[in-house]
Amino acid sequence: MFDSKIYRERRKRLQKKIDHGLILFLGNEESPMNYPDNAYRFRQDSNFLYFFGLDSPGLAGIIDVDEDKEILFGDDVDVEDIIWMGEKPFLKDRAAKVGVTHVSPRAQLADVLTRALEKNRKFHFLPVYREQTSLQIQNLLNIEAAKVNDCISKSLIKAVVDLRSKKSKPEVEQIEEALKITYQMHTTAMKMAIPGKYEREIAGAIEGIALSYGANISFPIILTVNGQILHNHYHGNKLRQGQLMVNDSGAESVMHYAADITRTIPVGGKFTSKQGEIYEIVLNAQETAIQASIPGRKNKDVHIKAVKVIASGLKELGIMKGDVDEAVKAGAHALFMPHGLGHMMGLDVHDMEGLGEDHVGYDKKTERSDQFGLAYLRMAKELKPGYVLTVEPGIYFIPALIDKWFKENKLTEYIDYQKLDQYRDFGGIRIEDDILITEKGQRILGKPIPKTIAQVEAITAKG
Ligand code: GLY
Ligand code: MN
Repeated sequence: MFDSKIYRERRKRLQKKIDHGLILFLGNEESPMNYPDNAYRFRQDSNFLYFFGLDSPGLAGIIDVDEDKEILFGDDVDVEDIIWMGEKPFLKDRAAKVGVTHVSPRAQLADVLTRALEKNRKFHFLPVYREQTSLQIQNLLNIEAAKVNDCISKSLIKAVVDLRSKKSKPEVEQIEEALKITYQMHTTAMKMAIPGKYEREIAGAIEGIALSYGANISFPIILTVNGQILHNHYHGNKLRQGQLMVNDSGAESVMHYAADITRTIPVGGKFTSKQGEIYEIVLNAQETAIQASIPGRKNKDVHIKAVKVIASGLKELGIMKGDVDEAVKAGAHALFMPHGLGHMMGLDVHDMEGLGEDHVGYDKKTERSDQFGLAYLRMAKELKPGYVLTVEPGIYFIPALIDKWFKENKLTEYIDYQKLDQYRDFGGIRIEDDILITEKGQRILGKPIPKTIAQVEAITAKG
């Protein structure tokens, strides 16, 4: 946990951004797997963590803007709890650690909110992503569960995005803690990528690394020899010599700050020349994009720079053709990179995505495109010092998409479908790092993880 001052300051800054009313933060509850007592690993709500810091179920916080008062609601453990789960510090003492002086039993939250409802006071709460929370709000605020997300506070979303977007030094340190673990996850995967191993053996081993630090993974591991499937969570394939294995995985630190790294590894330790050519294009796009990520520049423009590198590299190989700028304008590159360059990262791996992607990655000056590919860009707006984001271009050969475009005769002026046929079974390559935007430029976070062809080949197990 950070120092109590940090949480107090965050809440004060939030309070200043909200005109009046009562801000409600519901912490997450246990979420059952198959019966109530058998729960998934508990994950606290990231906004609750940001403002109230306490990492256990059964908590709620309110900030009364008009009365300048904060209350934390929760229950102390009773003997029954102690028998099964052990002792826990009193809520009053836990609250003091995050700078809150008023605590109340959980049952009193309903009374406080009922009184506020009677006085017609304004409520602010954030978008809800768990049904359980919708039901709580239904009971507390008398809003039909299905309509809860119609009643969210836009001003609260805006204020929270403003605060959480710029990472403080201690937050960046937390992300780098996550990256230390992630370094081990990735280098271990490289050392294990020998023919005959199953994807699941490697995925299991690297998830175990995160757990062994008392940390967790920041999202379900993507580790696959079918890297052309962008978010492939199937881990049942046996590795064969000469395949490419995409490993997109990261830890979240004990305090739940994320890392998100992708490396593409040649099974057996050596890229073929065909793989190497595509790899170099992706690497060039990634390095170009990182260099271009500076304060004052829109991430949308960085994305465009990256995909131009991809289009011109593919043109050199004869897969694309025509004028590169025109091809990119027409969206032809999206056949090979149908996703955005990256996303914000922090307490969530896609930071604050639960508040609405457009609130986080777009603003009045930056509209979302509706063009295939560019439309998926999560983070488009101008970069500012303190932002942490991923840079993750890729090139994929997705047979179903190639067939669809070919049948539609799509963008034939920019794509050589005959040449492309030679790459049908190629798979995919993605390379991803996490960067911090600084006052003058950017910094790649964490200890460098092997990335060039020579570095990756040197560490990868030889088949
Ligand atoms: N690492 C998975 C993603 O960014 O969506
Ligand atoms: Mn990512």
